[in-house]
Amino acid sequence: MLMLENLWNVIENEIQNSHNINMLNQIKIKYLGKNGVFNNYMKNLKSFSFEEKKKFSTIINKVKKKTIFSINIKTTELSKIILKKRVEKEKIDISLPGRYVKNGSIHPINHSIKFIKNFFYTLGFQSINGLEIEDEYHNFNALNIPKNHPARDNHDTFWFDENRLLRTQTSNMQIRIMKSNKPPMRFIFPGKVYRNDYDSTHTPMFHQVEGLIVEKNINFSHLKWIIYNFIFNFFNKKISLRFRPSYFPFTTPSSEVDIMIDSKKWLEILGCGMVHPLVLKNVNIDAKIYSACAFGLGVERITMLRYGISDIRSFFENDLRFIEQFKHI
Ligand code: DAH
Repeated sequence: MLMLENLWNVIENEIQNSHNINMLNQIKIKYLGKNGVFNNYMKNLKSFSFEEKKKFSTIINKVKKKTIFSINIKTTELSKIILKKRVEKEKIDISLPGRYVKNGSIHPINHSIKFIKNFFYTLGFQSINGLEIEDEYHNFNALNIPKNHPARDNHDTFWFDENRLLRTQTSNMQIRIMKSNKPPMRFIFPGKVYRNDYDSTHTPMFHQVEGLIVEKNINFSHLKWIIYNFIFNFFNKKISLRFRPSYFPFTTPSSEVDIMIDSKKWLEILGCGMVHPLVLKNVNIDAKIYSACAFGLGVERITMLRYGISDIRSFFENDLRFIEQFKHI
């Protein structure tokens, strides 16, 4: 039985000298496994007398219990060491300064269009982008600008062929939408327009937002209210504004709107008016029942005024130093 008494010391020694979970598993198999040392001891007891069996099996079970307990403790110990090593290896230094994340920014023109859309959404308008390749009928004729009309001279048009062109104004959408919808309606049409022009205040492509209301009792005073409120909102202050009588073939009466800049100069920012009865006739809207008002706004122009930009071309030169200035607007 000396052997048995020594056994615990041997096992404990082995357990304490194991450096990893794998070694511990080997010990487990060796002693506690099906063919392990403890089971073999038990098998060997068969030939012993009843009293001896009782005595030795008690000792064997005691050592076995101690072994299980010790292996469990060692397993926890080793797991803790493993975890500690892993944490040390994977630790990150949270005191390091953050790293710069390069980020794009919204183009100031898109920013303005977004602002304009949001303003008009609150007044119940829907927004539609519309076509840029247009035909002569929707861009000119249906808007009461027939061939040889002097108003065509202001639109240095890019023609694809005798009929198709790059739209010179978002007013083309007035025709398309009034033809395909039944009044009442409130729409804005933001988008690109094209004219063959290039200097510090003109680019061959620029943006307009067209507005259109067709309702039963809409009149010029509603138009006036909307434009005043839009301008005050866009510039975030009450600025001097005037409606100046003007002429557009597709509206009557027509007006241009100027705002005062630098306390001395009037600058035109949009055209507007009551939609001409001939235009309403072209789209089969009964002018005796419905009236319509419209406006067309140059997005570059008001964006330049809002941010003090002096050359319209800077919007389209893709100079990051310019564009990045609008990161936080
Ligand atoms: N389409 C005109 C232009 O490009 C602007 C305009 C004026 C639009 C009067 C309108 C309007 O809807 O009623 O010059």
